Amino acid sequence: MGLVRSLCLFITFLSCLVISVHGQAATRPVSGTRVGFYSTTCPTAETIVRNAVTAGFNANPAIAPGILRMIFHDCFVLGCDGSILISGANTERTAGPNRNLRGFEVIDNAKTQLEAACPGVVSCADILALAARDTVVLTRGISWQVPTGRRDGRVSVASNTNNLPGPGDSLALQQQKFSALGLNTRELVVLVGAHTIGTAGCGTFRNRLFNGTGGPADPTIDPTFLAQLRTQCPQNGDASVRVDLDTGSATTFDTSYFNNLSRGRGVLQSDQILWTDPATRPIVQQLMSPTSTFNAEFARAMVRMSNIGVLTGANGEIRRVCSAVN
Ligand code: HEM
Repeated sequence: MGLVRSLCLFITFLSCLVISVHGQAATRPVSGTRVGFYSTTCPTAETIVRNAVTAGFNANPAIAPGILRMIFHDCFVLGCDGSILISGANTERTAGPNRNLRGFEVIDNAKTQLEAACPGVVSCADILALAARDTVVLTRGISWQVPTGRRDGRVSVASNTNNLPGPGDSLALQQQKFSALGLNTRELVVLVGAHTIGTAGCGTFRNRLFNGTGGPADPTIDPTFLAQLRTQCPQNGDASVRVDLDTGSATTFDTSYFNNLSRGRGVLQSDQILWTDPATRPIVQQLMSPTSTFNAEFARAMVRMSNIGVLTGANGEIRRVCSAVN
């Protein structure tokens, strides 16, 4: 009888051990990100970020496209590790493609508030991922749950940005750059749909308007639109003047950008190519209707893009300020 009781107790002990190990595994930071990572360690994290982004947006709506572009440029260079946020000589932030990025002060403001509420807990990489979602919501796009748990990188070097997709890239080159990071052609088209908000400097597409000394323009541009773009960006005018990427709807996150492509009203060469190339035209055709699946697909693709090369667990660090490594 005594032996049976001891055996029972031993079995109970074993099952308790299994349950507790499982319980621990469920709450322990695992490799990879998950929704609600800060639910116990910093329950107000997502609200603090949302409020900071909303305040920044109310003061200057241009921070919405700025931050949305920022996460793309972060994730495509050494993964989504907040390396884009580090300032100083020769950092990613100083490189050509990043000079016009906007909204850094919004991320810094969120971080200051988070350090006051939960010191040393929330990474800058996660703040950027949450803020990017919030900018889409603020411009009347879809919301989605953002997996968190990223940690911050310690490396930011300007030359690492050389491989970012550029406005003059062929479709094949765009596809190569996306697929190298695990994103397929449909995800490429969907993600570039972020150009439904925001602007581009004349210098990024003026070569399409004037060939050499004013010769023929890129024939894929709609003639009325060409005249409009030439007025906005004259041949010897200021290269930094900004033009809407989604004419007529540049502050609203919608499908109008794809519709514009179908009418020869893409601003960047890399945009218009998505319509002229038979490989991507059917995708644009599917996405261009206001009732298309664009929003839902964008949310899914953003979750995938925001998981590129993330640092988790014991890797990287939680920066004290987003603009400098600890
Ligand atoms: C082939 C891929 C892409 C290329 C070549 C490209 C290129 C560009 C260029 C040249 C600009 C204008 C920059 C300036 O003059 O300041 C721009 C703006 C922008 N891009 Fe992209 N982009 C691509 C993909 C993406 C993706 C994947 C996202 C986000 C998910 C994105 C979000 C934006 C936004 C929101 C703007 C407007 C920025 C603002 O108004 O400040 N882009 N892009």
